[in-house]
Amino acid sequence: MAKIELRGLGHSYNTVDGKPNYALHPLDLTWEDGGTYALLGPSGCGKSTMLNIISGLLMPSEGRVLINGIDVTSVGAVKRNIAQVFQFPVVYPSKTVFENLAFPLRCRNTPKGEIDRRVNEVASLLNLDGVLQKPARKLTPDLKQLISLGRGLVRDDVAVILMDEPLTVIDPQLKFSLRRKLRDISARHGHTLVYVTHDQNEAMTLAEQVVVMDHGRVVQMGSPQALFEEPVHRHVGYFIGSPAMNFLEGRVDGGKVSVLGREVGALRSAEGRSLGEVVVGIRPEFVTLTDTPQAGTLPATVMDIQDMGCFAIVSADLGNSTIVKLRTPHHVPPVGAATNLAFTPEKVRFYKDNWLVS
Ligand SMILES: Nc1ncnc2c1ncn2[C@@H]1O[C@H](COP(=O)(O)OP(=O)(O)OP(=O)(O)O)[C@@H](O)[C@H]1O
Ligand SMILES: [Mg+2]
Repeated sequence: MAKIELRGLGHSYNTVDGKPNYALHPLDLTWEDGGTYALLGPSGCGKSTMLNIISGLLMPSEGRVLINGIDVTSVGAVKRNIAQVFQFPVVYPSKTVFENLAFPLRCRNTPKGEIDRRVNEVASLLNLDGVLQKPARKLTPDLKQLISLGRGLVRDDVAVILMDEPLTVIDPQLKFSLRRKLRDISARHGHTLVYVTHDQNEAMTLAEQVVVMDHGRVVQMGSPQALFEEPVHRHVGYFIGSPAMNFLEGRVDGGKVSVLGREVGALRSAEGRSLGEVVVGIRPEFVTLTDTPQAGTLPATVMDIQDMGCFAIVSADLGNSTIVKLRTPHHVPPVGAATNLAFTPEKVRFYKDNWLVS
């Protein structure tokens, strides 16, 4: 079992004008024993860099990695009890599926009976039972990736499983059931699971804690609910949720909040505060439409309606081409109609310099 601590950990692959050009800015982070984590962020934000440092494939240029309190920074990948699964299948094409799955166990001189037991268990978990005797090269890419996953799961001595976008090549239907299985397996075995993805749905369904990264920094780590309700940085509001959080130029003066010079009412979060210019953040789920203007509503024009079946995503223009998106299960006035937007008061957030004002 393993708790992983990153202490002052940073990495630069190169320097610019003699200074480190950080792919991962120095940070402190703790991954609790048995936790299920997703590492979420856009391409190039440093996810693989962090994962490869934890597994020992990459030596960090700064800081330390501790596993169960022991400094393993200079311990090689083979000596850490960590399994890593990559985005694309890594299989031995001429070996059978059975031998591919057995390989990590054979390398550790596991007794034959134990190998048979573990391989069969993992094969049945991943529905590979029927192809165990086939050479791996004869399989489709998604089945090959299942072998890679299986090799990560087959060892009993593994305390941490690191997965770097392992389901990219898997068919969407199978993806759904595999995510559930991965979650169950790691819960049952008490593995610490770190799962890299740039798909927010995958992150939110798989992990108890989501670590959101941007430009080599961790901007927030929290439960899916916390990231949805309380994004501490605009990047999180933007990256989590579909459509993204709305960000509008506004002001908070003497507890009163205004957007585009129009008052949106006294909000509890703004009570007695004068923050001056702020960015007002509101999720599309917390904006409603009303036909008649009321105190604190904002006049708008319906610009676009996307009918999603059981709800609609509406784009409404506040004027000056300031678009607010909202999700509504209700009947929507037609495109071009005048309407009024109301924000759920306790869901309005304020941002300054991209960070949440608390
Ligand atoms: N071996 C390398 N040498 C130099 N720069 C690198 C190297 N590997 C990664 N980088 C750079 O470091 C930054 C972070 O890369 P990393 O691969 O960790 O991102 P990522 O979040 O995993 O992206 P993706 O989602 O595309 O896999 C990027 O700017 C990338 O170009
Ligand atoms: Mg990567």
